[in-house]
Amino acid sequence: MTAQILVEKKKLTKAPLELHYLGDRVLRQPAKRISKIDNEIRQLAREMLQTMYTEDGIGLAAPQVGVNKQLLVVDIQLDDPTTPPLVLINPAVTQASRDVCVIQEGCLSIPNVFLDVTRPEVIEVSYKDENGRPQKITASGLLARVIQHEIDHLNGVMFVDRVNNAIALNQELNKHGFSPQAVKPIAD
Ligand code: NI
Repeated sequence: MTAQILVEKKKLTKAPLELHYLGDRVLRQPAKRISKIDNEIRQLAREMLQTMYTEDGIGLAAPQVGVNKQLLVVDIQLDDPTTPPLVLINPAVTQASRDVCVIQEGCLSIPNVFLDVTRPEVIEVSYKDENGRPQKITASGLLARVIQHEIDHLNGVMFVDRVNNAIALNQELNKHGFSPQAVKPIAD
């Protein structure tokens, strides 16, 4: 017996959850592991999906809606109503390719800011699904990119922390009303 998360892929007049933006401390806290996957968690996942669809995102992590838990939702097929979204609980990257690629990223918590980020091209991720079952997937391309971006959120990392082009970064942040001081560059 499994509890399915059924969410229509459509925009609501108002997102059920409120987004937090770059500069907000909640985005910088490491999220806590979820020990019990119950209806409350499934409801949170449902509302995160509705929020993501309403805001036109392809991924959303719980800290972005002010919840300090290791939960994220991903859907790179917004136009395909029959492909279910991914719900990842306590996700961990277990393998990452040495090959990297550059993809332009954006984030619902940093609206209108888009910048190039370099990350591994292929990853293997283990996680639990919304029914508490352990899962493992190998992802590449856009899916690998979104999952890595969202897992970063669970560690208090924002994609702008990984941008190498400092000039473009500062320009883009200033242009859209964000402070470059909110960036915490990470060495890797
Ligand atoms: Ni994001």
